[in-house]
Order: sequence, then C-alpha cells, then structure tokens
Amino acid sequence: MHDKKSLLNKDNWIARVSFWMIRFMHDNILLRKLRNPFQELESLGVKKGQKVLEIGCGPGFFTIPAANMVGAEGHIYSLDVNPFFVRHVSKKVVQKGVTNAEVLHANAADTGLPGHHIDLAFFIGVPHVSGGIQPVFCELNRVLKPNGRVSFHLGRWSEETIVDEMAKCRFELDETSGPIRVFRKLGALHETNE
Ligand SMILES: C[S@@+](CC[C@H](N)C(=O)[O-])C[C@H]1O[C@@H](n2cnc3c(N)ncnc32)[C@H](O)[C@@H]1O
Repeated sequence: MHDKKSLLNKDNWIARVSFWMIRFMHDNILLRKLRNPFQELESLGVKKGQKVLEIGCGPGFFTIPAANMVGAEGHIYSLDVNPFFVRHVSKKVVQKGVTNAEVLHANAADTGLPGHHIDLAFFIGVPHVSGGIQPVFCELNRVLKPNGRVSFHLGRWSEETIVDEMAKCRFELDETSGPIRVFRKLGALHETNE
C-alpha cells in the first residue's frame, strides 16, 4: 500500500482524504456521547449467534459493538472498499482482543464470502455506494442464507429507490421502524444457488 507508485496515485489520495474526513466525523468522543451503537445495532436486528455482514464499516464505530452483540457463537464480517479504513479497523479489532470479527478489503458487490453464509447484512451511514447499489444487492442475495435479512438505516436514501432496487434482487420489505427498513430474502436470484 505504501510503495512510491501508490503514494503518487490519485485514487490513493482520494481514499486517504476520505479516510481522514470520515474518521473525523464518525470516530470521535462527541459522537460516542451522542449515539449508542448498541441501540442502533439492536434496531437493525443484530442478535446473539448471528453471522453478520457490515457494509461500509468506515472507521468502525459499529464493528466492535456488533462483535460483542453476536458473541462467541456469532461472527461479524466488516468490509470496506477503502484500504485505509480496513487497516484502521483491523488494528482496533486486534487491540480490543476481538476474535469473532474479520475486516475485509472488498467492494460489497464482490465480498469473496461463501454463498448462503450470512444471517443479516446491514447498511448504516453509507449514503454513496461505490459502484452503485444494484450489484451490491445481487451479491447480498448470494451470500445470505435462505431466510436472511438486509437492514438499512435509510439516511439520505429514498425508501422507494431501495424497495425497487431490492425487489430486482428478490428481496421484499418486511419491517419498518423509524428510519430502519428490514428486507427479507425471497429466494435465490439464480435458482441453481439454492
Ligand atoms: C460514511 S462511511 C460510514 C461508516 C460507518 N458505517 C458508520 O456509520 O460509522 C461510508 C463507508 O462506506 C464505504 N463504502 C462505500 N461504498 C462501498 C462499497 N461498494 N463496498 C464497500 N464499502 C463501501 C466507504 O469507503 C466508507 O468508508
């Protein structure tokens, strides 16, 4: 990541600047006083024993709390397309001695996870999905178990867009609570998958 060529690379600089900006906003003492990650994760449907996929973990405000909530029988996969966040959150995981969390450097459209593996995937604070949302939703259909769920904190997303795009990947809206929308997988996109 740090050879001379990559330090001069434009994408590398964009990733680095976005890392510092998002870290400043999402990883500070004030935020931890204003927001309770455990309550937010509970409202997204995170439960003990689940295998959970966190999309766009950023500086990891939710990663360690999610790992604590799923417990020893559960597992959290936190992924981000920005390698600076992946390195930052990986360090946090090691420092806190967390053994049930993996931090993955990947676009959510190509997670590298096995099929039918995840109970719940969640999006929170991801107003822009790199590469677009449609390929990500199709990948979620692949990695989720047959009764898997996807939770959104809507934020700047319109409900209509999310419902329409999720329907194309065989998800239906199952629960609505404040800004949270929970979708249920209806079946595999390609029938040979299930
Ligand atoms: C604003 S941060 C939010 C971080 C965290 N969820 C929070 O609320 O504290 C959004 C993150 O989503 C990541 N992201 C955007 N599109 C992505 C994609 N297609 N795959 C993986 N990560 C993505 C960005 O790199 C960024 O770190």
